[in-house]
Parts: sequence; C-alpha cells; structure tokens
Amino acid sequence: MKGIKLIIAIVFSLWSSSTFESCIAATRGNYHWRKLKAASATNFNVLDYGAKGDGHADDTKAFQGAWAAACKTEGSTMVVPSGYVFLVKIISFSGPNCVPNIVFQLDGKIIAPTSPSAWGSGTLQWLEFTKLSKIAIKGKGVIDGQGSVWWSGNGKLPGTKPTALRFYGSNGVTVTGITIQNSQQTHLKFDSCTNVQVFDIKTSSPGDSPNTDGIHLQNSQEVVIYSSTLACGDDCISIQTGCSNVLVHNINCGPGHGIGIGSLGRENTKACVRNVTVRDITIQNTLTGVRIKTWQGGSGSVQNVLFSNIQVTDVKTPIMIDQYYCDKSKCRNQTSAVAVSGIHYVNVKGTYTWEPVYFACSDSLPCSGITMDTIELKASQESKNSNVPFCWAAYGEIKTKTVPPVDNCLERGNPRSTGIISKIDSC
Ligand SMILES: *[C@@H]1O[C@H](CO)[C@@H](O)[C@H](O)[C@H]1NC(C)=O
Ligand SMILES: *[C@@H]1O[C@H](CO)[C@@H](O)[C@H](O)[C@H]1NC(C)=O
Repeated sequence: MKGIKLIIAIVFSLWSSSTFESCIAATRGNYHWRKLKAASATNFNVLDYGAKGDGHADDTKAFQGAWAAACKTEGSTMVVPSGYVFLVKIISFSGPNCVPNIVFQLDGKIIAPTSPSAWGSGTLQWLEFTKLSKIAIKGKGVIDGQGSVWWSGNGKLPGTKPTALRFYGSNGVTVTGITIQNSQQTHLKFDSCTNVQVFDIKTSSPGDSPNTDGIHLQNSQEVVIYSSTLACGDDCISIQTGCSNVLVHNINCGPGHGIGIGSLGRENTKACVRNVTVRDITIQNTLTGVRIKTWQGGSGSVQNVLFSNIQVTDVKTPIMIDQYYCDKSKCRNQTSAVAVSGIHYVNVKGTYTWEPVYFACSDSLPCSGITMDTIELKASQESKNSNVPFCWAAYGEIKTKTVPPVDNCLERGNPRSTGIISKIDSC
C-alpha cells in the first residue's frame, strides 16, 4: 500500500510539474513572440539591410539603409549585432530630419578600410553622427580604426588622418559600453554638442601612436565623462576652445599624454574655456598628468578649473601650465596670451619621472589664482632626474605644505595689472 501511494505521488508530481513547466514555456514563448513582434517594428538590424559582417564585404550601404529607416521611426534602435565584423567606409549618420531618441546598439565590431582608395584627401572623420537630438551609442561592441597603417605614414594614405567617431552639432548625446581602438587619429570627438554623457567606455591604442587622443571636446557644454579607461598615444582627454561646464571623473588614463585643456590660442585665435572639474583620476606612464597649454599670441581665457584627487604613477610632469606651447623647435615671443586664472589643485599625489610641477606663464599675462592643497609628488624610483618645481610668472596661494615645496616658486597674491587682463572679460 505504501509503495502504491509513493508511485502515485511520484507520477502525480511528474505530471503536474511537466504540465506546469509546459505552461510556463508556452507563456514564455508567447511573451517572447510578442516582444519580438513589438521590437521588430522599431529595431533595424544591419543584417536585414544586406550587411555581410564577414570583415571583407563593404557593409556601408547596409548601414546607410538601416540608418535611413531608424531615422524616421519614433523610439528606434539601429542594431549592429554581436558575432560579426562589419567593414564600413566613411559614413555620416546625419540627423537634421531624423526623429529624436535613436539608439545605435553596437554589439558587433566595426572596422575601417585600410586601402588608400577608400579615403578622400582631407577626410576629417570616419564615422560621424551629426545634427541629432538625443542620440545614444550603447553596447559591448568595438570600433576599430585599424590605424597602424596611418601611424606609420607610408605615404599612400592622405596626410590628414580622420577621427574615428565624431559627434557634431547634437544635443543629448550618450556613449556607453563600447570600445574604440586603434583610431587613425582622435578616437572620440564631440564638436558643438550639448548635454553629453560618456561612461563605461574604453579607448585603446599604443602609447606611441601619433595624435590618437582618447576623447576630444570642442565647443561643447554640459559634458560628463566618467568610469572609463583611456589608453592612447596623445591626450586621454583634451578639452579645447568653447567648452564649459565639463565634469570628468573616475577615469584611468595611460599610456598617453594625460588630461589636458588646450592647446588654445593657436595662430592668434581667441579661446574660451571655463568651469572644468577633473576629479578621482588615476594616471600612469604618461607625458603629463593634468595640463593646461596655450600658444603665445592667442586671446581669451581659461577660468575656474579644479583638478582633485589625481593619483599619478611614473608621470613625466604631473602638474603643468604652459603658456609657451609650441610644437616646433621655436615659436616667436608675443605679448598677447590666453589668460589662465582660478586653477585649483587638490590632492595630487604619486610619482614623477622628470619634474613635479611646471608653471611657465606669460610675462605680459601671468597666471593668477593658482591654489595648491595637499600635493605630494615624489621622484619615481626609475627616474634619474628629479628636478625641482619650475615657476615663471605664476601667482597664487599654497593652502597646505606641499611635497616638494613650491614656496620659493609660486608667487603669492595677484600679479600687477597689465591692462591686457581686461581681455578675460571678453569670453
Ligand atoms: C559648473 O559645471 C557643473 C557641471 O560640471 C555645473 O553643475 C555647475 O552648475 C557649473 N557652474 C557654473 C557656475 O556654471
Ligand atoms: C621668450 O620669453 C621667455 C620668457 O621671458 C624667454 O625665456 C625666452 O628666451 C624668449 N624667447 C625668445 C625666442 O625670445
């Protein structure tokens, strides 16, 4: 009797559990089906537009087709699926007539052509998103510029190297999750954009690849860049003229040239940068840590900058302001300059390989309002040179004792007015 009861119990439980599971499965299937159906109306997969994704066939037309459809559809997603390598030539995802809120879901890999015939002379960028409102690139995918053929400068490719991914004239831009690697020149550029968010991204290029900035900002406002790892051959982040209200935090930078504002004022141009915060940064094996560089002969100003919690390891010069920036062997001395004021360094610690602090400011327009609080920089063990801080026409305040001391270097208070200072107001 006990045995029969047990068998019945087992049979019943098998029956009921399988019925239950098939019910769940049916419900799930139905749910999936509905979800797929709902999604297909707004998902535009490049494979459905003829992309091969084999790394050889030219998938540019398929990308153009998928974009044209996504551009017209409210709440659309352009899908670049994982498991494929898409060869895409110069392309503009152009948006003046697109709906807002398009997602570019990048999970596969996009590679650039390397043959000279694929590039017109003077091409400024490879992948461009322009004149869009609320555009997001998301996913775990990779953009690979295959830049090594450009870096070596073998003569057949155009002299002007393109930026890999550029956003222009857009409001509400998000870039997250992706990796941009081996860019021909700058990896990711924002020009004339507002409300930009970049997070959880990676840029990756060798330390000796020329001009491969990680992220380049120009004429852009309300920008936040965080939680990203930037390795490249030039500035990890470069902030150029026309930028304000920029926040950069939790970045790992290196190799590269560090995080910088400038260069500004080239060829007697006017440059304006204000309200930049760079905090919670680790930088290793770079040329500089945090740098401001301006050309002689420029005008305008850099105002209100905070560099805080900067940890440097084996950085050539961790703290630098250079108002004599020059990429030739010699530049003419000029009286006008981009004014530099209100630059705050808090908690900058670690090791340098050349010199801890370098402030080379303009005679006619000295740097003012530099503050230094909790600075501890030591010569790295490998370093054969350990130079003392250098200051020229740099004025400000030492909030706490610094290591090494800058007491005999930074001039206290304000520079005497030179009259040129009124130009600060013109920004
Ligand atoms: C400075 O920029 C931050 C964003 O990084 C912003 O929240 C703040 O309001 C700005 N301050 C001024 C005075 O514009
Ligand atoms: C330019 O000015 C700096 C600072 O006064 C000086 O050290 C340098 O020798 C000058 N260079 C030339 C080319 O006159």
